[in-house]
Amino acid sequence: MVTPNQKKITKKMLVTLNGQKTTTPPLWLMRQAGRHLKEYLEIREKAKNFLEFCYTPDLAVEATLQPIRRYGFDAAILFSDILVIPDALGQQVEFVPGTGPKLEAISSFDELEKLSKDGLHDHLSPVYEAIGKICCELPEETILIGFAGAPWTIATYVVEGGGSKNYQKTRKWAYDAPDEFGVLIDILVDATADHLIRQIESGVEVVQLFDSWAGVLPPSQFVKWSIEPAKKIITRIRAKHPDIPIIGFPRGAGLLYQRFVQETGVNAISIDATVPVTWAAKNLQPYCVVQGNLDNLALLTGGPAMEAEVAHILAAFADGPFIFNLGHGILPETPVPHVKKLIELVRGTSVGAA
Ligand code: CP3
Repeated sequence: MVTPNQKKITKKMLVTLNGQKTTTPPLWLMRQAGRHLKEYLEIREKAKNFLEFCYTPDLAVEATLQPIRRYGFDAAILFSDILVIPDALGQQVEFVPGTGPKLEAISSFDELEKLSKDGLHDHLSPVYEAIGKICCELPEETILIGFAGAPWTIATYVVEGGGSKNYQKTRKWAYDAPDEFGVLIDILVDATADHLIRQIESGVEVVQLFDSWAGVLPPSQFVKWSIEPAKKIITRIRAKHPDIPIIGFPRGAGLLYQRFVQETGVNAISIDATVPVTWAAKNLQPYCVVQGNLDNLALLTGGPAMEAEVAHILAAFADGPFIFNLGHGILPETPVPHVKKLIELVRGTSVGAA
């Protein structure tokens, strides 16, 4: 009898995440669903705000599938947002059109009691329902990626009350009172691990942890607030689901990507566009699968500039397991034909007209 673990892995993303090289690398793009697609803008109007959109399973399913229908990527990523975690913990979260996320800032130890995990699973149940539906509709060769924001990145939104230029309040709190700030990080570790485990139990096959603002931390702080929380989350996930591949994305980590890989034991590392590919091929790829790292501005620009960058990346990572992706999310202004050209460059075959 063949058990699920012994089943032959055929999906290209899973073959690669299993450490094997494929003839051409699997391909998906961070933020592949969303505003660069006119079909997304059409359904986006059906919900009164962005969070309601995320919590309406049929809309989340449709937004997840749109880029797969148009481009045939090797992976779909669940349509949701990293800020559903503070929202589910009871913090007020709002997405203001044109400005971005706005939260009722929490900046003292006493205010942490406003956060509670009690309603987490009920609040996020529409997300798990969407995952179940997406799994039924994806093409057989396409995998579904679940995700969450890493505790440090979420903490910056929780403490600053939204996006920030220098994360001054958060970083100062972390230096001034690491034990108190650590309580916030632990709340987020716990909620994030639960959320990712539930996503896996609902059907996602891979998870990615987005530490989008890890790059502002100097080494001592990076270890404490990016590596350590990631390790705890990974330990929690592996205790229940040892075979689910985990992709880490400590964006902007520079030389510290290496330490992140060694100490967290992620299966794959997503690197941003500033990382020299020859360095990553030598120092990261022998230890884990590398994902990345086309500059999203090169994709937006297209033409010879994009072609040169793509060729450089493909050549650098040709000898090991590699997932083609961007260094950060696709920009809303990106023309669809540029994405199709990129797919052709990576796969050597063209995408059908649509
Ligand atoms: O294709 C996908 O990747 C779909 C799911 C997805 C979204 N956000 C949808 C979204 C994912 C994986 C995210 C992650 C996310 N969200 C991150 C980490 C990745 C990164 O880019 O660094 C961060 C930092 C956020 C927080 C966030 N969400 C911000 C700052 C904003 C506003 C700015 C912006 O880009 O609009 C969002 C809103 C958001 N999340 C949109 C989408 C499609 C746009 C909302 C709209 O339709 O108006």
